[in-house]
Amino acid sequence: MDALARKNGADGTVRSHIIEDQASITGIVLDAMSRAPDARLRTVMEALIRHLHAFAREVRLTEPEFELGIDFLNRIGQATHDAHNEGILFSDALGFSTLVCLLNNGQNGATETASALLGPFWRQNSLATDNGGSIVRSATPGPALFADCHVVDPKGNPLAGVEVDVWQASPVGLYENQDSTQADMNLRGKFTTDADGRFWFRSVKPAGYPVPTNGPVGTLLQAQGRHPYRPAHLHFLCSKPDFKTLITQVFVDDDQHLESDVVFGVTRQLVGDFRPGTGVPPAADIDGPWYQLDYTFVLEPGVSTLPTPPIR
Ligand code: BEZ
Ligand code: FE
Repeated sequence: MDALARKNGADGTVRSHIIEDQASITGIVLDAMSRAPDARLRTVMEALIRHLHAFAREVRLTEPEFELGIDFLNRIGQATHDAHNEGILFSDALGFSTLVCLLNNGQNGATETASALLGPFWRQNSLATDNGGSIVRSATPGPALFADCHVVDPKGNPLAGVEVDVWQASPVGLYENQDSTQADMNLRGKFTTDADGRFWFRSVKPAGYPVPTNGPVGTLLQAQGRHPYRPAHLHFLCSKPDFKTLITQVFVDDDQHLESDVVFGVTRQLVGDFRPGTGVPPAADIDGPWYQLDYTFVLEPGVSTLPTPPIR
């Protein structure tokens, strides 16, 4: 039959990929993708096309807006390099990273979870550090922090031998890889829980910080009248064979941006109790305020995997 004479059915049957009008294109694109051998790829792409086309119809996307959007995506790629991941930052600023995290943890989104987004600053190969050691590896101003943490299973049994990666920004709000005044791997360390499921270390109380705003995500935040700040926090990545890797953050409870994290990472159970230290400080060199954080992490049984590091 002549291709031009072949018509698609009103019931959605697709016989030809010649586009008749805006209403018909979605079904034709879905048909083009329907023979992908990988079933999961079919599911994901079909839903993406349905939602993407519905989005353009709902907002009646104009051509200048379409060009702006494509340019925005291109600039996200151009701003990404070994030491910076603008793509993750974009996802974070849309609340998408946190949504994906909440859907995949807490028994696949059924219950509350202690997981939180990874963020763009995790580095592999941080320095193995003994319990009680310090992750302050170059002169870093700010009040000392003593963290005393436990890792347990869902029944509260202590988990020994859990590897815990810790990373945080300095009290001026910069990660070591953003700040040439800090030593390599400053405020990063890897601990192993003891027989009681405990790990403990010295650091400095982190400060809140703005996410990088010199790229397209910064432009978007400004256009939306949003501040770029994250409340102060420490990051933790806890892994042990046969347990789902717990990626999370613990937030400083007196931070002014606790209720308005630009990347929507704060859940109630991740607000830590940073108690001002009283009495004799735990180390002789402390001559100012210091803080104590006690926190317990719960690992769910599952497969232990590590994320792809967002930066090198
Ligand atoms: C972070 O906590 O390291 C982070 C998370 C999302 C965006 C920027 C930074
Ligand atoms: Fe962070």
